[in-house]
Amino acid sequence: MQQQAIIDKTAAYVKSQLEGEGSGHDWWHIFRVWKSALYIASQERGADIFIVELAALLHDIGDHKFHNGDETVGPRLVREWLEKQLLEEELIAAVCAIVSGLSYKGASTSSAMPTLEGRIVQDADRLDAIGAIGIARTFAYGGHKGRELYNPAIEPVLHDNFESYKSNTAPTINHFYEKLLLLKDRMHTPTARALAEKRHQYMENFLSQFYAEWNATDHSGNS
Ligand code: NI
Repeated sequence: MQQQAIIDKTAAYVKSQLEGEGSGHDWWHIFRVWKSALYIASQERGADIFIVELAALLHDIGDHKFHNGDETVGPRLVREWLEKQLLEEELIAAVCAIVSGLSYKGASTSSAMPTLEGRIVQDADRLDAIGAIGIARTFAYGGHKGRELYNPAIEPVLHDNFESYKSNTAPTINHFYEKLLLLKDRMHTPTARALAEKRHQYMENFLSQFYAEWNATDHSGNS
């Protein structure tokens, strides 16, 4: 019962911080990740649900994208919040480790997640980055950063380090090749992998249609 009270309080805190955010990292993103993580946990079994819920709720509270690339802000804010709830150190450390290990660091970088709880939350976060919602969020974020939609002259880059990935200013379409289309194969759990299939296919279809319209082949009446 006490755990439920902490979850409710944490959800209210995160909502107050991220509600109305316009770059795709708003409260509803958190809400979807939270619910997906619970679903994946229910299918995979064996995870500590309390840790999964707390990490899902708090995972974007200090995202490096909103703190000039500083990756230490997230875990620090998360720790401060959890200490205020008087939780034991072991649990706080587990949640902080998930939050700091969560974000995508580039196409050719690894994404090891040592705990089942971490793998579940990362899968849930990545599911929300692909499919129709992923497309919407990607363009919202690109607009927020002032990026072009697409520029045929600029090729996608498979970043092999986090610094170059973070500082990249390429058009939003490139982000599909640098991250979104790679996520399906990076899902940890079978449950998320199955969910990712349909969303992945939807993005492939979107890109085909996008190029068809861009190249005006759509006037042939064949597509
Ligand atoms: Ni997120």
